[in-house]
Amino acid sequence: MKNNHLKKIPMVDLNRQYISIKKEIDCAISDVIKESGYINSRFVKKLEQEIAKYCGTKYAVGVNSGTDALYLSLWALGIKQGDEVITTPFTFIATAECISLLNAKPVFVDVDYETYNIDADLIEAKITKKTKAIIPVHLFGFPCEMNKIKKIAKKHNLFLIEDAAQAIGAEYMGKKIGSFGDTGCFSFFPSKNLGAYGDGGIITTNNKKLAERLIMLRNHGSKIKYFNEEIGVSSRLDGIQASILSVKLKYLDRWNRKRKEIAELYNYLLKEIDWIELPKENKDLKHVYNQYTIKVKNGKRDKLKKYLEEKGISSMIYYPLPLHLTKAMKYLDYKKGSFPVSEKLSKQVLSLPISADLKKKEVEYIGHSLKIG
Ligand SMILES: Cc1ncc(COP(=O)(O)O)c(C=O)c1O
Repeated sequence: MKNNHLKKIPMVDLNRQYISIKKEIDCAISDVIKESGYINSRFVKKLEQEIAKYCGTKYAVGVNSGTDALYLSLWALGIKQGDEVITTPFTFIATAECISLLNAKPVFVDVDYETYNIDADLIEAKITKKTKAIIPVHLFGFPCEMNKIKKIAKKHNLFLIEDAAQAIGAEYMGKKIGSFGDTGCFSFFPSKNLGAYGDGGIITTNNKKLAERLIMLRNHGSKIKYFNEEIGVSSRLDGIQASILSVKLKYLDRWNRKRKEIAELYNYLLKEIDWIELPKENKDLKHVYNQYTIKVKNGKRDKLKKYLEEKGISSMIYYPLPLHLTKAMKYLDYKKGSFPVSEKLSKQVLSLPISADLKKKEVEYIGHSLKIG
């Protein structure tokens, strides 16, 4: 493929996906409209049952976003002012933001350089009497070391909340992500592997009481309309999004397999470039490649990004600033150098386009451009 195609290769082309399933999606939307099933309707209940089955949990509770899935999980588990919650600084801010919103303290643990995920061997040193929960983040679609993390949580009597926003369909030793913790928190942000046509999220759990509390909290603290039992919020997943997601869920495994094929093609095309490090795989873990993220090791990451842009290739830096160095998290008083791996990664990482609809010739063009870049 020559550069004369000039059409930019985006990170994800959501319209291509829509066109491939247009009939079913249009029908799903029209079904909701025909019966005005916008709020708390059968479409949401149906999706909740389907997601619970898919993830291997007893319950799933639809909410407004992945952020709310985390926030409501922490709230329902009773996390409050003065509590500490362990997570990583190399993630999207929502993970730590939710802890702060409840006036609890995010306590960061550095990530593993190879996997980008929380370094399980560093967790115990950060546990204090105030620690109440751990939030491992399955970053880019790659599962965290759940056996180790679960053991630590059990030993110290801590809640385990999985931030699975980027990892629907991922598996750790044959078991679906989102089924290990007290809750699993998923995002349906449009560019996720299972994306809505707007915001959306869902919480998986095996705990009936917790599921019931989450159902109340997302709906103004009420089970029965106007008979509010506690203060809650408005964070429902809407009927149209649920109906769209039910259609897309049928394709998720196929799309995730396609993402893996694209990742393998990238691995093949880029393997001889000695200044690029490829994402790690592990035969016991199923990576669903919400992102295909390389490390650019010659200090030229930003220059490479610009060069790709000139070639019509999008790329993104997830994340350019670890959370402890953001202005928003300054109040935690972490110094530069506190999390050296996260800080190093923020200067090296570059995510390349990946989606089930990316064409082989586009991946080849990207691979070729990188080779001569
Ligand atoms: C790791 C992680 N956690 C949480 C979220 C929040 O999800 P949402 O955008 O649906 O609120 C995201 C979204 O990008 C995410 O990537």
